[in-house]
Amino acid sequence: MQNLFSTYKIKNLELKNRVVMPPMCQYSVEKKDGIANDWHYLHYVSRAVGGTGFIIVEMTDVEPDGRITDYDLGLWSDEQVPALTKIVEAVHSHGAKIGIQIAHAGRKAEDAAEPVAPSAIPFDENSKTPRALTTEEVKGMVEKFRLAVRRAVQAGFDAIEIHGAHGYLIHQFHSPLTNKRDDEYGQDLTKFGREVIEAAKAEMPADMPLIMRISAREYVEGGYGIEESIEFSKVYKDAGADVFDISSGGEGQIAAWGRPGTHAAYQVPLARQIKEALQVPVMAVGRLDDPILANAVIGNEEADLVQVGRGMLRNPYWTLEAAKQLRKENIVPKQYEAGF
Ligand SMILES: Cc1cc2nc3c(=O)[nH]c(=O)nc-3n(C[C@H](O)[C@H](O)[C@H](O)COP(=O)(O)O)c2cc1C
Repeated sequence: MQNLFSTYKIKNLELKNRVVMPPMCQYSVEKKDGIANDWHYLHYVSRAVGGTGFIIVEMTDVEPDGRITDYDLGLWSDEQVPALTKIVEAVHSHGAKIGIQIAHAGRKAEDAAEPVAPSAIPFDENSKTPRALTTEEVKGMVEKFRLAVRRAVQAGFDAIEIHGAHGYLIHQFHSPLTNKRDDEYGQDLTKFGREVIEAAKAEMPADMPLIMRISAREYVEGGYGIEESIEFSKVYKDAGADVFDISSGGEGQIAAWGRPGTHAAYQVPLARQIKEALQVPVMAVGRLDDPILANAVIGNEEADLVQVGRGMLRNPYWTLEAAKQLRKENIVPKQYEAGF
């Protein structure tokens, strides 16, 4: 029987436990150059010291206007690689593995003078109306993802996560509410996401896993549900996604009836359904910061890995405390033993 502290292996990614720090934007690039700084270094390395098995660096964007804000990380330039390498090496030296989430915010790029999107439909009445990408520009965007993934591989990351969730660019392409194009990228809503995955895989060593984060359902009126997300996920799996990271929502103003995220484990049923339908490894996320609950999700085989986001913002040593509470092998660094 597996538990939160069982090891896990997918391709060449070998994890000492099933606890994952999910991508969480820090909006802390003060110089607006997309380069990780001391904050990012301490933020990620402290979670490695805290026993986390796998850390995923926050949304890191493929072009300047792909950022939510100008304070976000980027990988559109070789100059952005060394600071990430430093983080990767330090995380490794503390026994954790590390991936990075590659993304483009599309119409949710708040600081872009003119955000781009599949179609010229704003997020809400307070947002800028995005410009619809031309077909050539969409193809160019796939190349921007490719180059960012190439740089992430150069930086030494153990895995790549593609951000296909939360209403950002890839999600905008596969959602019928935001993709009203009549070209090939509108006739086939999954074409863009599929090409991004294929381009990423072409840059990644064959034994490095690609994780696809999706919103498994939307919450806006008329949004897609789990049946549709199972279908587009099958396409992404065939394109090369090895693991699915199951989140939800983020596409627009939510309907009153559908507000997500108010109770424990609210997205676990979605993760389980994708796992069962596609027979793929999945990562669950969303209010799983009670160790007993997180352990149950693994033990009940609802997910292969569990992510703890806000719980780790509160406590970088979440994993050490979870091990203690679940009476697992002592994983506390000797320097901190007196505290446990
Ligand atoms: C401050 C903050 C920043 C976030 N940034 C990202 C991000 O960069 N990419 C992403 O996919 N999700 C992002 N999320 C969502 C988290 O990855 C996670 O899915 C969510 O917080 C639910 O998990 P939790 O209940 O354990 O916090 C962010 C969440 C928070 C709180």
